[in-house]
Amino acid sequence: MKKIAFINQKGGVGKTTCTMNIGAGLCILAKKVLLIDLDPQAHLTYSLGIEAHNLENTVYELLKGNCKAQKAIINRNGIDLIPSSLELSGAEIEFSGIAGREFLLKEALEGIYHYDYMLIDCPPSLGLLTLNALTTTQEVYIPLQTEFLALQGMSKLLATIDIVKKRLNKDIEITGIIATRFDHRKNLNKEVVEKIENYFGSRFFKTLIRDNVSLAEAPSFGQTIFEYKANSYGAKDYLNLCQEIIKRG
Ligand SMILES: Nc1ncnc2c1ncn2[C@@H]1O[C@H](COP(=O)(O)OP(=O)(O)O)[C@@H](O)[C@H]1O
Ligand SMILES: [Mg+2]
Repeated sequence: MKKIAFINQKGGVGKTTCTMNIGAGLCILAKKVLLIDLDPQAHLTYSLGIEAHNLENTVYELLKGNCKAQKAIINRNGIDLIPSSLELSGAEIEFSGIAGREFLLKEALEGIYHYDYMLIDCPPSLGLLTLNALTTTQEVYIPLQTEFLALQGMSKLLATIDIVKKRLNKDIEITGIIATRFDHRKNLNKEVVEKIENYFGSRFFKTLIRDNVSLAEAPSFGQTIFEYKANSYGAKDYLNLCQEIIKRG
């Protein structure tokens, strides 16, 4: 099972959109996928059309040890999801005094192995929840918006992952960099893509996710891009990206 965390402490760069649509694309390509919403804002949960406030078991109950992982998984059109809820917003403080607080998610997921991919959507911070994702996974994908300041804050992110590698999880690696909201008409976008590619080399995915309004609309219908508009650029780009992900093995 490949376990991948989608991380960037900046908000609005495409973490949730990537997690949802890469998950859905991999499903279309016959892979078994588990998505985990680790953001207290529960955007991934809502974007998949699930009403977070009605749920009995979410990732919060899971981290607290109040339920087993199997009980927290919701199956939705072939995609499995462990949802989030607002309750999680107190978690950083609530769990801060617990010994082994960086490993709560990893421990809670110990019996879960019958998937090809586990994808974790992280909050826009490098706090305790993101640390839990970094100890649970082996791979980090970083979505970057192809705009001015795309790489700003990157040294902090890289330093955090280095520390985790030294102290908490020696297997963790940044393996994928995804350019999102690319607009080929903008010279600046092209320059930023070149910059990102120079910085990350072969870890940079060749597939660029173009700016596409359908990608922004789909969540308000509780749908993935493939359910909402299967013939959109967004659907094509995410399917290509999934093929690239599978090819990397
Ligand atoms: N390729 C894209 N084209 C157009 N809008 C996009 C694209 N990717 C993401 N968005 C929109 O940009 C906003 C931020 O994306 P999101 O995935 O929520 O970022 P994050 O999870 O990093 O905060 C959302 O409104 C989303 O619908
Ligand atoms: Mg998000």
